[in-house]
Amino acid sequence: MGKGTVVMAYSGGLDTSICIPLLKERYDYDRVVTVAVNVGQGDEEIAVATKKGEKFADVHYTIDARDRFVTEYLFPAIRANGSYEGYPMGTALARPLIAEEVVRVALREKAKTVAHGCTGKGNDQLRFDFIFRIAGLEVIAPIRELNLTREWEIEYAKEHKIPIPVVKEKPWSIDENLWSRSIEGGRLEDPAYHPPEEIFGWTLPLEKAPDKPEMITLEFLKGIPVGMNGEAMSGRDLITKLNIVAGSHGIGRSNMIEDRILGLKARENYEHPAATVILTAHADLEQLTLTRQELAFKRIVDDKWSELAYMGLVHEPLF
Ligand code: ARG
Repeated sequence: MGKGTVVMAYSGGLDTSICIPLLKERYDYDRVVTVAVNVGQGDEEIAVATKKGEKFADVHYTIDARDRFVTEYLFPAIRANGSYEGYPMGTALARPLIAEEVVRVALREKAKTVAHGCTGKGNDQLRFDFIFRIAGLEVIAPIRELNLTREWEIEYAKEHKIPIPVVKEKPWSIDENLWSRSIEGGRLEDPAYHPPEEIFGWTLPLEKAPDKPEMITLEFLKGIPVGMNGEAMSGRDLITKLNIVAGSHGIGRSNMIEDRILGLKARENYEHPAATVILTAHADLEQLTLTRQELAFKRIVDDKWSELAYMGLVHEPLF
């Protein structure tokens, strides 16, 4: 008899996949339950996570949280003009929601322990830890705790018949959701390295974008977008459509050095076409309707909101 059930946030990637046998062999759990949360990372990624979770875990859940992501995280982010060091936050907004869905499953499965596959360097470990701990659960982070090398992980995956992505050593780490796509790692860590065109998936380079502008109208109600070009639309449809339209005009790239929560500086590239358009339009609306004093005060609370969101402190009463 081992330690019972552990519930893990699952992406289908190498790290979280090897965590399934690790949680049994190294941590002595009897049952590993995986949870893949759909926040708009693309149908293929979700399909892979579902297939692998169903095959390798004892129980697997795939949860479609896209509408919840829009109404509970993206709408507030729009109202707060949510941005960090100049780019529209995306990953930061999705992590607490993923963690919350994992907590729900843990309650349902009567598990006292949850796990994530984050390393000890990034922001996501903290965002997950925070939600898990506030729910009173014990947290295991095998990748952070066991200091594994990629070579070791690949060997271990082979031993456990876990398929390794066929592509030769993926050169970048990509995180995608409805609001943004982020690309980091590999050669991009050198600030002097110009991002090659191949890293971009949502936006055309300006030289390939049409010379003719495209006029669109956005309709807002109480600070959130509710329609485009005269047609009422759900937030999810509007964002999905606008990502394509604005991305095809080369709108919404960021290329920067970011200050992570723990103080490390990290090179980041982002794509966020719909977010750029919506946030720009929203800020214009505020400029049009608020007084000078209201605008100045709003900037202060917006900044605080963004800082808390970036740090994953979504249960902080001030949030
Ligand atoms: N630096 C950003 C954040 O912490 C995004 C990181 C996304 N991760 C990735 N592997 N691309 O919010």
